[in-house]
Amino acid sequence: QRGKVTVVGSLNMDLVVKAERAPQKGETVMGEEVHFIPGGKGANQAVAAASLGAKTSMIGSVGDDPFGESLLSSLQERGVDTGTVKTVTEASTGIASILLSQGDNRITVVSGANSHTLPSDVEQHRQVITGADGVLLQLEVPLPAIQQAVELAKKAGKTVILNPAPARDLPQDLLEQVDYLTPNRSELELLSGISPEKEGLDRAMGRLLDRGVGHVVTTLGEDGAAYLSPGEETVRVPGHSVKAVDTTGAGDAFNAGLAVALAEGGSLEEAVRFAGKTAALAVTRLGAQSGMPNREEVESFDQGRNRP
Ligand code: RIB
Ligand code: NA
Repeated sequence: QRGKVTVVGSLNMDLVVKAERAPQKGETVMGEEVHFIPGGKGANQAVAAASLGAKTSMIGSVGDDPFGESLLSSLQERGVDTGTVKTVTEASTGIASILLSQGDNRITVVSGANSHTLPSDVEQHRQVITGADGVLLQLEVPLPAIQQAVELAKKAGKTVILNPAPARDLPQDLLEQVDYLTPNRSELELLSGISPEKEGLDRAMGRLLDRGVGHVVTTLGEDGAAYLSPGEETVRVPGHSVKAVDTTGAGDAFNAGLAVALAEGGSLEEAVRFAGKTAALAVTRLGAQSGMPNREEVESFDQGRNRP
């Protein structure tokens, strides 16, 4: 059964520069390639969710400019309903400057239009939140909009998945309403105040359960993921060894996979495995949105040519 996922989040145009290495302070290096690729954590997660087969809507904002138009068409081409994306005149479309070297990336985001996503926008589109199976959020739009969406979803009994990226501290009452929190290692450390390296993943994730989160799912890059539910032990799900071309959007792919599987009624374990495969496929391709795999690719991943 097809799940319904609503994403509340950012849309950015990614200006991707590929270079042999990153420049040092005051240094100039020559780059090899430049690409303009649709991105933004919210839009990436929406495109991935739709590609995985979920009926997907997105709430967010773009500027009244060519980048905004191209971000909207990118979403529409992959089947995301963009009727709930607002076009603003006060700011230009969000931009992410991404330096890609040796498969790793350094990202600087200028929010632009994304910072104009307000609680009233969320309120205006409350039906796409209350009518979804799952609501998926990140932290590239202002917190009041996120709080509003989480509250509406929670009141309607919907599943709330919050990807706390980029890292920042979060209010207690927000954490208490999150069913699944999906940090990476550094976000986990910031939110829990516990170093997963020094004191262990268990303790760090346990602290977030103490702070009221429903379940914690930590993404561990090539090491896969780990999750913890109240009263249970930490479960590790190994990663897949693939050739990394571009890790930009790997976390977004993971979150979309998780949301889609949960929206279809899958167990947390099934959802984490499905998410891991989605992310592994995404890193084998250039670009965040352009690299998102479809359902068939994820389902045939084990038997397919990407087998480690
Ligand atoms: O998660 C990857 C995304 O982060 C990029 O697409 C970039 O736009 C930034 O938002
Ligand atoms: Na990619």
